[in-house]
Amino acid sequence: MAYETLLVETRGRVGLVTLNRPQALNALNRQLLEELQGVLAGFQADAGIGAIVITGSEKAFAAGADIKEMQPYGFAAAVTEDLAAGWDAVAACRKPMIAAVSGFALGGGCELAMMCDFIIASETAKFGQPEITLGIIPGMGGTQRLTRAVGKAKAMDLVLTGRMMDAAEAERCGLVARVVAPERLLEEALAAAEKIAGFSLPAVMMAKEAVSRAQETVLSEGMRAERRLFHALFATEDQKEGMAAFIEKRKPTFANR
Ligand code: HXC
Repeated sequence: MAYETLLVETRGRVGLVTLNRPQALNALNRQLLEELQGVLAGFQADAGIGAIVITGSEKAFAAGADIKEMQPYGFAAAVTEDLAAGWDAVAACRKPMIAAVSGFALGGGCELAMMCDFIIASETAKFGQPEITLGIIPGMGGTQRLTRAVGKAKAMDLVLTGRMMDAAEAERCGLVARVVAPERLLEEALAAAEKIAGFSLPAVMMAKEAVSRAQETVLSEGMRAERRLFHALFATEDQKEGMAAFIEKRKPTFANR
């Protein structure tokens, strides 16, 4: 299927989505959101896909929500259309998503990267929540996910001043999992995704669910959730195979991958 705002490919068991609105530095408009929702729903339903990589261009992962599209909105339309709420469907994807970020990841672009399970950044990446400079605040999770990722002090600094931080600072404060040379970005993200996609998919999905729970709840609730998911995996053939393979000193062949 052809998309106007995305390039979509599969590489083995990895789904690769490239944001593709170069004329607007991949600004996230309604059409892009709808196309991304469709692609992710397709990957989720496809048993052949075990992990997803979302990337942009060398210059921009995404420079934010599309300001030209948002400019005419008033309060009533923002409320009744529930502006920004459609992104919840992207964040709700149950398969692992890696953001491979080069260049600008600003506003909604930074928020989209944070909806992914982890971020691999090029040395050129620049992260920020510049909404304050436009007279608004982040609306796709920036005040919440950024604060959980980097803590209150750094989140307040970024959200209140609108400044950008580079890849080294983003790694230091825990926003980014790895920083790599620009030419290695996609290779590194695809290799990580391919590795994940080689494991038992039920285990991968439950691992994602369990870690995500830590972002949402208190320790005792999170521990209970982890324990239930952990126990449930003993019902899978992949647990039998994974442990038998270890004991027999061979590579496992997971049935559910
Ligand atoms: C619409 C955008 C855009 C955006 C860039 N463009 N960002 N269009 N929405 N968010 C367009 C520019 O208008 C321009 O189009 C073209 O992309 C190239 O951008 P330049 O500004 O000429 O490039 P450069 O000088 O290199 O500066 C790059 C930049 C700057 C620093 C990233 O573009 C910038 O500050 N962009 C806005 C960043 C931002 O404020 N993001 C937050 C958005 S609010 P033309 O046609 O003029 O050539 C947000 C809220 C999310 O994300 C929650 C609600 C859903």
